[in-house]
Amino acid sequence: MRTEGGRGDGKIHAGRALPPPFKGLGLGRVPVPAGSPGGTAPLTPGPGEAGNQLPLGFGRIVSLLKSAGCVFAEDEATLLLAADSSPAQLSLNVQRRIEGVPLEHILGWAEFAGGRIAVEPGVFVPRRRTELLVNQALDLLSGGVLEVPPDGVLAAPPVVVDLCCGSGAVGTAILRRAPYVELHAADIEPAAVRCAWRNLEPLGGHVHWGDLFSALPPALLGRVAVLAVNAPYVPTQAIRTMPPEARLYEPAVSLDGGPDGLDFHRRVAAGGIHWLAPHGHLLIETSDRQSGRTSDIMAAAGFAVRTVRSDEVDGTVVVGRRPAITDIQGATKALHGKRPNSNGPAP
Ligand SMILES: C[S@@+](CC[C@H](N)C(=O)[O-])C[C@H]1O[C@@H](n2cnc3c(N)ncnc32)[C@H](O)[C@@H]1O
Repeated sequence: MRTEGGRGDGKIHAGRALPPPFKGLGLGRVPVPAGSPGGTAPLTPGPGEAGNQLPLGFGRIVSLLKSAGCVFAEDEATLLLAADSSPAQLSLNVQRRIEGVPLEHILGWAEFAGGRIAVEPGVFVPRRRTELLVNQALDLLSGGVLEVPPDGVLAAPPVVVDLCCGSGAVGTAILRRAPYVELHAADIEPAAVRCAWRNLEPLGGHVHWGDLFSALPPALLGRVAVLAVNAPYVPTQAIRTMPPEARLYEPAVSLDGGPDGLDFHRRVAAGGIHWLAPHGHLLIETSDRQSGRTSDIMAAAGFAVRTVRSDEVDGTVVVGRRPAITDIQGATKALHGKRPNSNGPAP
């Protein structure tokens, strides 16, 4: 699980642990032995370590990671050693970590919402703060998010959509705890879609590729009970101030929310209202600082909104309840000054 600062909770976290500015070890690249993957030679063995015959020891890895500015060096060394790697692969993994590659991309998984999520290079690493989005979705589902018919029986399982799904972490965590839902996830990045498919397909989830709602099967229009969205919300100019792990190893498309960071919130609010069932809910992760504007955007689109904040995970989610059908056209016009765009159904 990623963290941006000290946690001190005694647990192992595959953590975002290299605060800016990243302090490289200055080891540089050494001549590449034939067959060495990735063009990086194994690290020089430490005292008592016999070349490539033995893997790097715990103490040596900790000291290398600490020298590189790694905050959770012991935890990370434990995880790197626990990975089923050959000595040469272990050396390479330590070298890559020192170079700033996110630990989750090296290990191939991230801890999220109490379970492991497969994460591939080039795919956004799920953050702990997003567990709030999962918990809010689960609360709504367990509280009966939809209007129950007089006979008390829903005709079909509730539909949940994880839009801008990345690795599919949100949908996977929901499906693990609420296996009765019909789960759909979508993303525009092929690598993310592939990764989400790895996580969700074994659980019976459906994964789609494309731009926001255009990726979803039209049969879901007006049927979604919970639309959970962690879309990019970093203002374009702020990306350069992000830690190198995000800036260099996560694709810009997973971070860039446009000039004020809220481009996706506007598109999702305007389009989402058409995909929700009566009494369905839109949940958007945002930052504490942007939450007022995210909330205004959703209210202007016609949602009844409330904001939920968790200091424990440093997460913020705006929850919007779909209004009565008659409000929708007017609200969409108010937001855009025109008829629904391509994110909604055809006018
Ligand atoms: C901040 S990441 C969040 C990923 C995932 N929801 C999570 O919490 O781990 C945003 C994701 O939005 C996806 N994305 C960006 N633009 C998109 C678009 N136009 N349509 C669908 N997905 C998009 C990116 O590829 C990225 O995976």
